[in-house]
Amino acid sequence: MKKVTIVGGAGNVGATCANVLAHDNLVNEIVVLDLNDNMAKGKALDMWQQAPIDEYSTRLVGGSSYELTANSDIVVITAGIPRKPGMSRDDLIGTNAKIVTEVTQNILKYSPNPIIIIVSNPLDVMTYAAFKAAGLDSSRVMGMAGILDTARYRAFLAEELGTSPRDIQAVLMGGHGDTMVPLPRYTTVAGIPVTELVAADKLDAIVKRTINGGAELTNLMGTSAWYAPGAAAAQMVSAIVRDEKRIFPCCTFLDGEYGIHDLCVGVPVVLGANGIEKIIELQLTEDEKALLNSSAAAVRAVVDVCKGLGYAQ
Ligand code: NAI
Ligand code: 2OP
Repeated sequence: MKKVTIVGGAGNVGATCANVLAHDNLVNEIVVLDLNDNMAKGKALDMWQQAPIDEYSTRLVGGSSYELTANSDIVVITAGIPRKPGMSRDDLIGTNAKIVTEVTQNILKYSPNPIIIIVSNPLDVMTYAAFKAAGLDSSRVMGMAGILDTARYRAFLAEELGTSPRDIQAVLMGGHGDTMVPLPRYTTVAGIPVTELVAADKLDAIVKRTINGGAELTNLMGTSAWYAPGAAAAQMVSAIVRDEKRIFPCCTFLDGEYGIHDLCVGVPVVLGANGIEKIIELQLTEDEKALLNSSAAAVRAVVDVCKGLGYAQ
């Protein structure tokens, strides 16, 4: 018996996450919670009416009252404002830090020990703010970005190679932003190192396109992406509910791993029933370490701004 709440669930990413998860037919109940009460009720009802067609049993309910969320096992937070063209993820900080902090506090009034997955941007900073606001073990508060960023990277590589994206395995680290660190050395195509299959200049262009992946979509659509982000968050929920011990790049609190202290950034982890069950420490080269450190420094600078605004304390 599992209950999942999605806060911001009436929005693009949240509703997509709810829909993908419902189709997984994995949890008993999904609560679509949003400030926009009618939209939350409407989207939950619409998805519930999809159940007989697509043959899932997950019950969906929606609204704006936190009482609906009582005893949730997992909470996905997508509440906040999205990027518009020309905005960086960091531009969202003031508004989203307030929203994510208040949402986390409200959730904990009704669910004492949930696993919380943050999606709101700027992702690494919002994960840190939620972790501080929640006071839960660091294994239970995490952020979704790495699955999305590696999915973009894998899709671009599949296009270049004319292969299925399923056969491409990749690791990506650091913050969800312009300083993210794709790792071609750890990228394989059905076990074959990608460096044997793709020329260095093409690989470099794909890495750059991945780093710019969010902005490419924001420029096309006038707002940020939602299908792949919603599915990525749902994949994290699924790995936890099924206790799959999947290895994914996730944003997590680091307490000395990779030489990084008191910060949330993306690293490979094992995801299972207890949340982040292990942080995997790769043997990075000096160049890779330097990239990770500069990404962590960029995240820390925004955390400091967030602290200056009174959040993430
Ligand atoms: P959206 O505007 O479609 O949805 C956001 C929803 O949050 C709205 O329905 C809004 O009513 C709700 N909301 C706002 N304040 C709230 C509050 N205090 N309590 C409850 N609900 C509240 O935005 P979209 O496109 O779904 O994006 C959501 C967030 O996810 C943005 O911050 C965006 O930047 C981020 N994002 C992160 C990604 C990642 O990889 N981590 C990928 C894509 C988006
Ligand atoms: C994305 O990468 C904007 O974080 C959002 O699509």
